Amino acid sequence: MILVTGGAGFIGSNFVLDWLADHDEPVVNLDALTYAGNLNNLRPLEGDPRHIFVHGNIGDAALLSDLFTRHKPRAVVNFAAESHVDRSIHGPEDFIQTNILGTFRLLEAARAYWGGLENKSDFRFLHVSTDEVFGTLGADDPAFNEETSYRPNSPYSASKAASDHLVRAYFHTYGLPVVTTNCSNNYGPLHFPEKLIPLVIHNALKGRPLPIYGDGMQIRDWLYVKDHCSAIRRVLEAGRLGETYNIGGWNERANLHVVTTLCEVLDELQPRSDGKKYGEQIAFVADRPGHDRRYAIDARKIEAELGWRPAETFESGIRKTVRWYLDNADWVENVTSGSYRNWVEKQYA
Ligand code: NAD
Ligand code: TYD
Repeated sequence: MILVTGGAGFIGSNFVLDWLADHDEPVVNLDALTYAGNLNNLRPLEGDPRHIFVHGNIGDAALLSDLFTRHKPRAVVNFAAESHVDRSIHGPEDFIQTNILGTFRLLEAARAYWGGLENKSDFRFLHVSTDEVFGTLGADDPAFNEETSYRPNSPYSASKAASDHLVRAYFHTYGLPVVTTNCSNNYGPLHFPEKLIPLVIHNALKGRPLPIYGDGMQIRDWLYVKDHCSAIRRVLEAGRLGETYNIGGWNERANLHVVTTLCEVLDELQPRSDGKKYGEQIAFVADRPGHDRRYAIDARKIEAELGWRPAETFESGIRKTVRWYLDNADWVENVTSGSYRNWVEKQYA
């Protein structure tokens, strides 16, 4: 049994689906079902006794204690978080609550449970984090490695940095068997359409503007979500305790390039009915405050120690992703109703 938190979100649900496609080991999936969590993501597991969904908050100490006692997980994989930088700029409070306090409560519950185990060395606490904790790179700087100092610039990345430090402290202070992963930008199926790639696909198909912040020359290092999930599985299996592993796909791309690539793939797979190109919808808008210029991951450690490499290139992953959105219009319709509408309509009204 493993305990996954945030397993109804983008990466967490991909992880749970992939896990149960490969293993019979059951999953307890604890998720608060915020705007970003969606049970539809887990629909293929309906009625599957290997998947136990629990609607709850990682900040709920009593619930956590009960879950650990009842299910006796051999590992925790902590995905639960507030994850969108723009939302953290408009309202940082939830980020502090979930990413910092929530992770703290989860660590405390894990520590109490692990303290009572006979075979303490069998337990793992895997904390899923981001490369954004390292701050921003100049054009010629080397990519982030595991020795790079933390210099977070947004409330999101600052809250994730704080949680990473707590996880580290629980290893050094209490000996809790932890491992942390710091991954670059993910994309792929089940990605909520507020982040760049799914937002652009969704807006393109709706005939809306495709907003590019600032000059669009900010660089992100893109990784297909299934590759992130395989890396996490590998780290859970064989990662060294107390270590961190950077995960990335060696796919640095400027935002403008990402958006034009998406437009070209859409032009090919679902041309606009008026014969025009999707690229005509591109709109340069005001830059994000504190916008990090460049992220890049040096993924040599996880490759050398654990033999992990991504399976997808940027081009193959983008094509799969666009196809997935074209084939899953009902999923998009479902997640873009309700609270999402309020958020988006504020921007495109
Ligand atoms: P997401 O926003 O899509 O999903 C987050 C999930 O956590 C949702 O299902 C939500 O309901 C749940 N959740 C939020 N607050 C909770 C709480 N207090 N208790 C329980 N559940 C709660 O996020 P994502 O993109 O899937 O990211 C998952 C993790 O991976 C996060 O920790 C994020 O920091 C990290 N990460 C994301 C990326 C990326 O590109 N998306 C890259 C690197 C690391
Ligand atoms: P995003 O997907 O929000 O991820 P992150 O901020 O965590 O990297 O944004 C990816 C990049 O795309 C980032 O440089 C901001 C930019 N961006 C836009 O230009 N327009 C948009 O509408 C969004 C959401 C992001």
